Amino acid sequence: MDFKDTLIIWYSANKRELPWRKTKNPYHIWLSEIILQQTQVNQGLPYYERFIAQYPTVFDLANASETSILKLWQGLGYYSRARNLHTSAKLIVNEFDGEFPNNYKDLIKLKGVGDYTASAIASFAFNEVEAVVDGNVYRVLSRYFGIDTPINTTAGIKEFKSLATSLIDTEQPATFNQAIMEFGAIQCKPKNPDCSICPLQDSCVALEKQLVEVLPVKLKK
Ligand code: ADE
Repeated sequence: MDFKDTLIIWYSANKRELPWRKTKNPYHIWLSEIILQQTQVNQGLPYYERFIAQYPTVFDLANASETSILKLWQGLGYYSRARNLHTSAKLIVNEFDGEFPNNYKDLIKLKGVGDYTASAIASFAFNEVEAVVDGNVYRVLSRYFGIDTPINTTAGIKEFKSLATSLIDTEQPATFNQAIMEFGAIQCKPKNPDCSICPLQDSCVALEKQLVEVLPVKLKK
């Protein structure tokens, strides 16, 4: 079985039930991904639920006051995320008639949306074949393929994006992207992963070469 099929089977058996995985609503997915940019899933979850409850559509968010949005954001930190959400919601309502951007190229133009978030929304909401590369993906790929290119360099960013793009399941990009991130979060953990139960153990370069705790490499800048 190849890399993508192994991950997807692992995912179907091991995934957490998270509310943003049950929706194709791009606005809801965008909210979840902005919240999760610098926040752990467990901490972000109640905030996601409160935002969806208070601002169920992009129109509700656009029409809200900045003060009330910041109040709902209270405790999450990095408040520029909340301001960017508001700015983008107003742009989407006023310039695009409330029609959420529906492809990577347009999504990445939104304030606060970089390559990762644009890929996440494009694949999860619109099934676009666009590979996500977050910290989890760096860890899984660097270990499995034994790649020591530093992940916080231009060369590393390019190399891992291109590798992820070559591996993505083009028939189910959303599931593949969720699967590789979840695999990194739960199985291929930063510290003390249990490789004895890993479905990729037979072909993992880092495990064979005892580099699991060394990879991924991050340059001190
Ligand atoms: N972290 C960032 N995006 C995520 C997602 N869609 N599911 C779980 N964790 C995440």
